[in-house]
Amino acid sequence: MRDMKLLRQAHTQVVDLNSWEPDDEFPIGPTGAKPKRIFICPTPAPHGFLIGGHRYLFKEPSGPHVMQIWSEVIAYELAKVVGVPVPPAFLARAPRNGSPGVLVEFFYGYADRAPARLIDGIDRLVANGFAVDFKHGSLKDNIDVCRLQKVPDWRYWWAATLAFDTLIGNTDRHSQNWGFLTEAAPGGGISFSMAPAFDNGTSLGFIVGEESLEGHLAPDAMRRFVRRGRHHYGWTSGDRASARHVALCRAYAERIVGSKATLTRVSSITDARVDEIVSWCRTFEYSVPFSAARARFVATQMRTRRDALQSPLSGRADHGALGGSPT
Ligand SMILES: Nc1ncnc2c1ncn2[C@@H]1O[C@H](COP(=O)(O)OP(=O)(O)OP(=O)(O)O)[C@@H](O)[C@H]1O
Ligand SMILES: [Mg+2]
Repeated sequence: MRDMKLLRQAHTQVVDLNSWEPDDEFPIGPTGAKPKRIFICPTPAPHGFLIGGHRYLFKEPSGPHVMQIWSEVIAYELAKVVGVPVPPAFLARAPRNGSPGVLVEFFYGYADRAPARLIDGIDRLVANGFAVDFKHGSLKDNIDVCRLQKVPDWRYWWAATLAFDTLIGNTDRHSQNWGFLTEAAPGGGISFSMAPAFDNGTSLGFIVGEESLEGHLAPDAMRRFVRRGRHHYGWTSGDRASARHVALCRAYAERIVGSKATLTRVSSITDARVDEIVSWCRTFEYSVPFSAARARFVATQMRTRRDALQSPLSGRADHGALGGSPT
């Protein structure tokens, strides 16, 4: 990926996919639950944040899921600030009918880089004999498979991604929403690295309708809402207590030497940065409106999630937002 700091979309730059070539042949397969299409960006690229000739995934959540478009875009904006590798995501309009969707940059297939391909986490878990199903698993198994694949940066990646998922309240990091990039190793064979954290839209309370937003803003209501957030997996399989967002970060920090610094760094977003991100969202006139109430809801949520995470990392008493014990 290029320098992500440069890649901010302006409110006048919602991507119009009318002149984009569909890439019907690309074998992304049936992975994932929601409608999606693949397009090739025209050359020259219509906006500076796009890459001409590169492949993009266009996801069109609708109905009660439509706010996932914003969640995915905000997750990317947040990821840039806290330094977590996440594929760039932009607001877009479908060809012909102009219906809304999120356009996500492919994180491999760059013209100036070695060819790579994505292997879902679940593929290597199964290949290495772990007993997993589609929606469940354990962080310990995920880490063990990373070790088996000799991924160099797994300690950092899981710390950064767990903290990031906690900040956005992502409830969808199942083993088809993380994976490995593989490429030919210099001395022969194949090398594995962690792919950027993709599919980040099931987050930030996307399911909460406009009429219910205000009701979540009181501190107690928001803390209750945040406390309910869980991953698919706990530290070990079936351990539901440690599946809560902050509890899983704490479990990780307690077991993986050196991870606390990364968790702390990622959780260090300031109020001003949070406010700036939601203010930027408010500048768009888009067919999925980002209302003032939504801005307050998202900002309050991110601050509450951050505080819930920072509290145990700094050794302060927990505010009751942590969830269960890590073991
Ligand atoms: N930026 C990307 N670059 C390359 N491949 C991607 C990228 N994002 C997603 N993919 C691939 O496309 C598949 C579907 O994308 P994604 O997981 O974002 O949506 P989804 O699975 O439909 O959503 P959900 O998991 O909520 O059902 C992924 O499992 C992955 O294989
Ligand atoms: Mg997915």
